[in-house]
Amino acid sequence: MEKLTGKDKELIRNSWESLGKNKVPHGVVMFTRLFELEPGLLHLFNYKANSNSTQDCVSSPEFLDHITKVMLVIDAAVSHLDDLHSLEEFLLNLGRKHQAVGVKTQSFSLVGESLLYMLQCSLGQAYTAPLRQAWLNMYSIVVSAMSSGWTKNGEHKSD
Ligand code: HEM
Repeated sequence: MEKLTGKDKELIRNSWESLGKNKVPHGVVMFTRLFELEPGLLHLFNYKANSNSTQDCVSSPEFLDHITKVMLVIDAAVSHLDDLHSLEEFLLNLGRKHQAVGVKTQSFSLVGESLLYMLQCSLGQAYTAPLRQAWLNMYSIVVSAMSSGWTKNGEHKSD
């Protein structure tokens, strides 16, 4: 696993301090952006019969529950910046689970883009180039572990 610099950690922690107190609304901004980038992902959240609009999806409790789960993973990563390695098994397993429900690894990258979009909207002028890079570095570590788990699960199935 890659390491983050001390400056990266400081920028991430400071910016998450207020955002992390309001996880669901920020997660909704993130996933609304994600569906703009990849509308095909909506059908993977087919919790409601006949729901195929972002609005239908975003208003379902199960979807909001998934947003909470995503934000808690980000929260866990922010809390373990000095020891992201300790989350590796969990993230590998999470990648496996997403392979099983039909999420592609390319979509994980779009979540990263959507995360940056949410940070930009929420932080305004505090969204600087070093802060963007710090979040990108952290998210890349998370996604790299999830993608390894995803690949292992795919290989296991094609055995
Ligand atoms: C690429 C877009 C994504 C899609 C389409 C997606 C879809 C899903 C689906 C369909 C499930 C199973 C149903 C559920 O628990 O609601 C799930 C579970 C979950 N997802 Fe995602 N997901 C995505 C990205 C992410 C990301 C980036 C994270 C965290 C960083 C994440 C965290 C979770 C967690 C923690 C669970 C529960 C796993 C468990 O049951 O143990 N998801 N996801």
